[in-house]
Amino acid sequence: MTTVASTVRRGRTARRDRVLYQRLADELVGLIETRVLRPGDRLPSVRTYSRQKRVSLATVLRTYQLLEDRGYLDVRPQSGHYVSSTGGQLAPSPSVPRPSFAKEEVRVADLAWDLLARVNDKALAPFGLATAAPEHYPARRLSRILARVSRESGVASVIYGPPAGHEALLHQLARRSLAAGLTLRPEELLVTNGCTEAIHLALRALTRAGDVLLVESPSYYAFLETAESLGLRVVEVPTDPETGVSLEHLEAAARRTRPRAFLTNPTFHNPLGFSVPDDRKREQLALLARHGVAVVEDDIYGDLYFGDARPAPLKAFDETGDVILCSSFSKTVAPGFRVGWLAAGRHAERIRKLKLASSIHTNTLAQLTLAEYLSGGGAEHHLRRLRQAFRAQVADYSVAVARLFPEGTRVSRPQGGHLLWIELARGKDTMELSRRALARRVGIVPGRVFSTGDTYGHCFRLNCGFPLRGGREEALETLAALAREL
Ligand SMILES: Cc1ncc(COP(=O)(O)O)c(C=O)c1O
Repeated sequence: MTTVASTVRRGRTARRDRVLYQRLADELVGLIETRVLRPGDRLPSVRTYSRQKRVSLATVLRTYQLLEDRGYLDVRPQSGHYVSSTGGQLAPSPSVPRPSFAKEEVRVADLAWDLLARVNDKALAPFGLATAAPEHYPARRLSRILARVSRESGVASVIYGPPAGHEALLHQLARRSLAAGLTLRPEELLVTNGCTEAIHLALRALTRAGDVLLVESPSYYAFLETAESLGLRVVEVPTDPETGVSLEHLEAAARRTRPRAFLTNPTFHNPLGFSVPDDRKREQLALLARHGVAVVEDDIYGDLYFGDARPAPLKAFDETGDVILCSSFSKTVAPGFRVGWLAAGRHAERIRKLKLASSIHTNTLAQLTLAEYLSGGGAEHHLRRLRQAFRAQVADYSVAVARLFPEGTRVSRPQGGHLLWIELARGKDTMELSRRALARRVGIVPGRVFSTGDTYGHCFRLNCGFPLRGGREEALETLAALAREL
């Protein structure tokens, strides 16, 4: 019989096993990096190692698999596991001496939940969640349209709607895609409950439990959570803070780990803020196509550029139909409406079926309201002002961080969006910083949750979606003082 106690026990055992294989992986990496184990050396068989370490066969298998995914080991069929000739060139980040896999259990979902639960708490400095100040959203205009649409559509807004989305919104999305350098027809699009559902559907269409998923390192924490919830094996690819994922490492990871898909946020990346230049976007796609790797592209920040023009998404260079573009209005118009969309290329049929199983369709009133809003000229004006505001805010926060934070602090140079990535001196623990900051009513997101390893324990993400005034400068001073005390 399943009791609460047995469920809790099982949860604890699963967590212990996870920590165990990460520790074993770290131990072996230590031996490889100090050249106790050299390229070409054979590791003990799974059975022998499990006996030596008094752990289960499954734990050893997971350890070896993790090291294989990260490029430390090669498997030779019927022969065993060997230290690879590159001996771990796939380190997640160039600025980190060596990747570490063991980490204290970080409950990402709990952390995000706590921050979201306090999203309306005016006493909490909003440097955590990636959201903007309420005055940045066109709330009054939207509520007027919503009231009118509700009145005029009558019963249509309370009965079920078409699963792919309402025609009026699909039409607006197709029209707007032109400005992003895409030509998408309404029937190629599907409306979702935010970008989050779009990514879920895309990953479910492309992968099965046990498949390898490539991601940038660092990566938006919900990508990692989603991958885990689908039973995928995440492989992080080292990523340049200015130009995006390293092509060399992407190629090596594609060759070595036979991934099913690459989940990427190439335009105004969360948390680094870079936008991959066009020629590299083309190269990435060509490389992935050569290896038969599909792409899930999150383009949610694409409209928030600081430069002269909106960068084209990867999807604009897609020649195979293997790029699934996902986005939403959450960063630009109304996160609370929960309206997003996707363009699934050749995976459209499968995704339609999954959408039915996932949520049938997306809220009608929200869709009709957005369609009406987008059809007027006000939306472009709003977006222009939003871009100016975010650009100024990011500049204000960058200057303040440089002034207030301890020497040795590094800060990203985002090309769009409203997030900064802060790197403190190595050894500083931003998990601890976030705990102390929360106690002082300041929210941040610690670096650890942006990786499956322990690579970013000294980094954190700072949201600049709110102007740096009204007590927020003092809150930033408090944060800087806490960082100095760490
Ligand atoms: C990169 C990225 N993708 C997706 C989301 C969530 O999107 P939505 O609210 O549309 O589900 C966020 C929110 O922070 C994000 O930063």
